[in-house]
Amino acid sequence: MPYAIELLNITKRFARTVANDDVTLKVLAGSIHALVGENGAGKTTLMETLYGLYQPDAGAIRIHEKEVTIKSPHDSIKLGIGMVHQHFMLVPPLTVLENIVLGAETTKNFFIDLKKTTAEISELAEKFSLNVPLTEKVENVGVGIQQRVEILKAIYRKADILVLDEPTAVLTPQETVQLFKILAELKEQGKTIVLITHKLNEVMAISDHVSVMRKGKIVGHLETPKTNPQEIAQLMVGRPVLLRVEKSEHKAGAPVLGVKELTYVDRRGVEALKSVSLDVASGEILGIAGVEGNGQSQLVECITGLIRPTSGSITINGVEIVGLNAREVFARGLAHVPEDRIKRGLVIDLSIKENLILSLQALPQFSSRLSMKRAEITSNAELLIQKYDVRPPDPNAITRGLSGGNQQKVIIARELSRNAEVIIASQPTRGVDIGGIEFIHRTLVTARDSGKAILLVSADLNEILSLSDRIAVMYSGRIVKIFPDNKVEESELGLYMTGSNQELIREAK
Ligand SMILES: Nc1ncnc2c1ncn2[C@@H]1O[C@H](COP(=O)(O)OP(=O)(O)OP(=O)(O)O)[C@@H](O)[C@H]1O
Ligand SMILES: [Mg+2]
Repeated sequence: MPYAIELLNITKRFARTVANDDVTLKVLAGSIHALVGENGAGKTTLMETLYGLYQPDAGAIRIHEKEVTIKSPHDSIKLGIGMVHQHFMLVPPLTVLENIVLGAETTKNFFIDLKKTTAEISELAEKFSLNVPLTEKVENVGVGIQQRVEILKAIYRKADILVLDEPTAVLTPQETVQLFKILAELKEQGKTIVLITHKLNEVMAISDHVSVMRKGKIVGHLETPKTNPQEIAQLMVGRPVLLRVEKSEHKAGAPVLGVKELTYVDRRGVEALKSVSLDVASGEILGIAGVEGNGQSQLVECITGLIRPTSGSITINGVEIVGLNAREVFARGLAHVPEDRIKRGLVIDLSIKENLILSLQALPQFSSRLSMKRAEITSNAELLIQKYDVRPPDPNAITRGLSGGNQQKVIIARELSRNAEVIIASQPTRGVDIGGIEFIHRTLVTARDSGKAILLVSADLNEILSLSDRIAVMYSGRIVKIFPDNKVEESELGLYMTGSNQELIREAK
């Protein structure tokens, strides 16, 4: 079979970082090729180079066995390459249809032939089982649908090579199954697909080949049916990895965090939280499962003092904290790993060492009455960088230049090294590689064993199931179910999460 993509000896540098170091990757036409590797390994850079967002410093690209120069996404689209980025690039107030045709209008003037276009897109949607509501505004559809819109958009531009960068990070298990059906269908119809992912079960489930990157280099090309998750993980990380969390029985103590009948009505008048009650005991991890946008963010923001609930109570060791601001709540013994690391967790133009003491500057450990203790701040950073394997291991590196997974490690390091009694962890391993996940999971379990009360919010069911001692499911602003342990099937959780289990949900109300 001929190659659809040949990236030959590609090198790409950013200042001192060699993001891609003499990388050669060949993808057979009509196949699904997984690209895996640690955070910062260079996966996104390589694919964005193929898509024309970066120019390689050295190397050549061949598409369908012809050497090409790709100076911009415009060039790559003309060559039949489409890319679905991890952060979707749709325009929320426009309709699905408008988003699909945006920038691809085929007519000479600005007016598109609505009827003809709708018919064309409907036909494509049907052919590839990409069901989308064409006249609905993008802001009103969920992430799973948005992703289909992105795929449809690429196909409408006649892409026969499709690159997806961590497409399942925000999907429910059901949506992931749907996406994989679509990918299989696309392959069936002759398309070539490159899939970047950190999830090895996905690699095994759908790919024909898998290439592994580490530190800018390719360290292995494997045929999926002839390998296994252990082998891939070892290649990725360079050592054997525990793919399962080791966890002893939990011995929950007294409730530490208490949430009672919490409601929150947002500025638009939407009731984002509807009488939410839960508690988290010392020595336990309570996992909150749910599709994003069902109130989890507001719940966490209320608890951490970022927004004020409309009614209800939140207590730490019986003491009311509603009405305190974030700083005051932290002072009462709360640590927070926020879901939006750029907005809430980091000041990305500061150095790693400064981010590692963010909101802790005032502690006597780091400052005296007159000045900051520079040596202590640096040695604190050196210690945490080493412990959490932050790369680059340079306390003075500016956080903006770190890969997503490494930015996340900086936040985790800061929040888990504080001596807080309650830890709120939102999507703690989103975008983190398996070595990093193993480490973060172990750290959370150790914190639990030392008596911390941990509230874990995650869209990743594997994470919920493997870490939680009890599981609460949120749907539409409510806790619709609390499982007393973690012995529940993913599919059953999925039903509660999507509100499909209406009867059971009514029962839970
Ligand atoms: N625009 C940029 N400027 C400076 N450095 C960059 C830039 N983009 C990427 N890098 C660096 O290049 C390296 C590779 O980054 P890349 O984003 O390709 O990694 P990745 O494999 O996609 O990682 P992740 O799994 O965390 O998404 C990292 O060290 C990163 O810090
Ligand atoms: Mg990436």
